[in-house]
Amino acid sequence: MNELELLKKEVDHCTKCVLSKTRTNAVFGEGFRIADIMCVGEGPGYYEDQQGRPFVGKSGQLLDKILDVCGFTRNEHVFIANIVKCRPPNNRDPLPEERETCIPYLYKQIELIKPKIIILLGSTALRCLIDPNARITKVRGEWLEWNDRLVMPTFHPSALLRNEKLKRPAWEDFKKVVAKYRELVNEAHFSNYC
Ligand code: URA
Ligand code: SF4
Repeated sequence: MNELELLKKEVDHCTKCVLSKTRTNAVFGEGFRIADIMCVGEGPGYYEDQQGRPFVGKSGQLLDKILDVCGFTRNEHVFIANIVKCRPPNNRDPLPEERETCIPYLYKQIELIKPKIIILLGSTALRCLIDPNARITKVRGEWLEWNDRLVMPTFHPSALLRNEKLKRPAWEDFKKVVAKYRELVNEAHFSNYC
């Protein structure tokens, strides 16, 4: 078993915070073990909790669609994870102590996967990783840095589902990711838009 698999085992049995009491399955995340791109969401919702997989509900379907247009797949290019690995009851926001207890798992995932680009999906991921006071509407689309890794904050897919008008700016953000991926990883990367 490699280190990432061992970490998954630990998360699957974790009882470090109260979310362990109400979860059906912990959601470690999934994707390529040494992905160049990592997507970070907030936490599992109903379907993720049921299936033990990240982003499989409505937001997940939209995320997959966006990744597909960019020419990225979960198997080859991306690893998808969340700030908290267990579903908060009724999809409430994860509490500060839950985020703080869980975030070392994300740090360890980043250390093992070594992505060149981290896409932060929404305000929780942005605030947790970059700055508790940061505003997604203000910093989205700008390259930031976290521990020598490039970070692109953008809207959470659920925000895009609630507000169609955010789709265009979000698309601009993902185009920047594709351009950066071509620059850093594969000049010949094929996407489905250009
Ligand atoms: N929303 C998230 O933030 N993460 C998931 O895994 C699913 C929905
Ligand atoms: Fe452990 Fe994180 Fe789940 Fe809390 S949310 S029980 S810290 S894996």
